[in-house]
Amino acid sequence: MERQNSRYHVTPSLLCADQLELKQTVSELDRLGVDWFHIDVMDGSFVPNFAFGTDCVRAIRKIAKAPVYAHMMTVHPMEFVKPFADLGVDYYCFHYETTVNPFRLCQQIQDHGMKAAVALNPSTPVEVLKELIPYISAVTLMSIEPGFSGQKFLPHTYEKIRKLKEMTEGSKVLIEVDGGADIPISMQCLSCGADMVVGGYFTIFDSRKTLEENYRDYAQALKEG
Ligand code: DX5
Ligand code: ZN
Repeated sequence: MERQNSRYHVTPSLLCADQLELKQTVSELDRLGVDWFHIDVMDGSFVPNFAFGTDCVRAIRKIAKAPVYAHMMTVHPMEFVKPFADLGVDYYCFHYETTVNPFRLCQQIQDHGMKAAVALNPSTPVEVLKELIPYISAVTLMSIEPGFSGQKFLPHTYEKIRKLKEMTEGSKVLIEVDGGADIPISMQCLSCGADMVVGGYFTIFDSRKTLEENYRDYAQALKEG
């Protein structure tokens, strides 16, 4: 998937799905036409929560038609490159804050046939990525402290998107924003230069409506925006 025809991409976070209905949810989102599945992997150390172990990712990968984007909230991302490549993950997104060897890590991810992506915590400035941009396919800008769904969007993210957009001009790096975005916030992120905003608690998985209604409202807003 590259930044070309349809500029905006729909990327639901499966953390927000009813965990007992993952199979139906993945199939339905595929049918509706999502661009990729955002899967949050949490190790209980980098963030105070656990999510999506390898067996669960394997089961999702088996049925998912859209690419899988693994957002690795793990203290030791290097250790999981091979296992996640073996699972068939398409994008391996590590947190910049977890490694002092990001170039080596990107190389290992690519050597294992995945696309490398980097996530930045809300307090990490985008400038740290300057030299890394030629080696990555996507950046996830956290707009909440990672770990939980349903938190309030941090507005300084808009300025980070603008800066990163400038820094990535002329490259194929996709900019994803993750956390706390409802439809108006998502629209603003896109107008600042984001390519996608993770669809979570406030959009695709809004419990007041069905998945299909949420998806259509969200996709429609993105298209019109
Ligand atoms: C949190 C995760 C997010 C989360 C999105 O650490 O990375 O993907 O599900 O947050 P909400 O659901 O609030 O948009
Ligand atoms: Zn995430």
